[in-house]
Amino acid sequence: MNNDLIRKAEEYIQVLFEGNSDGHGIDHSLRVLTNAMEIAREEPGADLELVALASLLHDADDHKLTDTKDNANARDFLKENNVEDDRIELILSIINSVSFSKNRGKIPDTIEGKIVQDADRLDAMGAVGIARTFAYGGKNGRSVDDSIGHFHDKLLLLKDGLNTKTARKMAEERHEFMLEFLSHYDSETGSPES
Ligand code: NI
Repeated sequence: MNNDLIRKAEEYIQVLFEGNSDGHGIDHSLRVLTNAMEIAREEPGADLELVALASLLHDADDHKLTDTKDNANARDFLKENNVEDDRIELILSIINSVSFSKNRGKIPDTIEGKIVQDADRLDAMGAVGIARTFAYGGKNGRSVDDSIGHFHDKLLLLKDGLNTKTARKMAEERHEFMLEFLSHYDSETGSPES
């Protein structure tokens, strides 16, 4: 694994996401990297460098952040750093297989895609998932109650859609914590059990 290239990718997204406050910034991408490497260590056959680069760059062309076409940010970074063309295509296809909006429920067909998708989903769960939900909701004019609704519509369903055994194990505590949060929220607000 080319650690120099990984470090450069970290620096690249640091600049790219400067000032972003809705929970999709640099911290998210670094946590996806950490989650993905943890999963990849347990899942045989994954190319760790592809996993690392796709993790770091997975939101570089996200439509919520930018209006680039055809993964232009990620592609330019990889080209400028002399990654071979076939590796670039592999990384971009992993990134595209992870995006929820581009795939609506389709399972990635490579182990690297499965790992990065799981890593991204894990970061939408647990304490971090709760924090990100309200940060994103606030920035997009969503009420607290609407954000609570998002747990039921999406976040509580994530656990059952995970691809790898390792991620399913990592998700257990995060899922339980979200349920506990919602139950406290309901009791403090006097809402019926949701
Ligand atoms: Ni993401």
